[in-house]
Amino acid sequence: MKRRSIVAANWKMNGNLSLINDMITGLNAVHLTENVDVVVCPSFPYLASFTAIAQREGLQKSIHLGSQNVNEHQSGAFTGEISIDMLKECSVQYVIVGHSERRDIYKESSKLVADKVACVLDAGLTPILCIGESEAERETEQTNLVLSAQLQSVIDKIGIEKFDDVVIAYEPVWAIGTGKTASPEMAQETHQFIREFLALSNAEIANKVPLLYGGSVNASNCETLFAQPDIDGGLIGGASLKVDEFKVICSAA
Ligand code: G3P
Repeated sequence: MKRRSIVAANWKMNGNLSLINDMITGLNAVHLTENVDVVVCPSFPYLASFTAIAQREGLQKSIHLGSQNVNEHQSGAFTGEISIDMLKECSVQYVIVGHSERRDIYKESSKLVADKVACVLDAGLTPILCIGESEAERETEQTNLVLSAQLQSVIDKIGIEKFDDVVIAYEPVWAIGTGKTASPEMAQETHQFIREFLALSNAEIANKVPLLYGGSVNASNCETLFAQPDIDGGLIGGASLKVDEFKVICSAA
């Protein structure tokens, strides 16, 4: 059974309406193979605009809207936050959860990440759960320990069965925004570990979960990365802000 391939764009705090227009026009011209989905995750203010422009332009159905974050509460006195129902009203289908920048800069704990995954699943949306180790953890051979703990926290919260609806993005923190991409061999080795760790709880589900790689993916390295047996696409930062380069990456999936 061929797993779904997903190429997701994490624009972070970048982009504008012009890029939204150009990206929709550009992606509408890309021929995507049958089991490939593309997800574009602009900043919150552009979610509704993306949906409106996508409808106006007749964006192809395999290209979806995603959010970079969500609050774990349904509603309430959380100034500046966004709820899952607000995302649903903007036709968001995917939500990035646990990005290392949320964990490091905004101190999101593994418990909070697990709560957000549960909130996204309960609303019928798909979480893109980000996990990854720091340079120091990689250098001291703690990678598998770190990834296991990050995954176990979510398994404990939602149960392995619900991973049927989860997408995982492995993003070595030391490769994010640095140009220091993990080698295809290193990425494959870590993806294989992630799948084997999930298989300890449920082999069938472990084999189905799309595992994306993120961390300095670009038009030059995407093909060799995506060719790896346990890499099912990518979570793209900087390169997804360039329409032509992101089109190349989507076509490589
Ligand atoms: O979420 C994707 C992002 O962290 C990767 O960033 O710029 O290294 O592709 P970049």
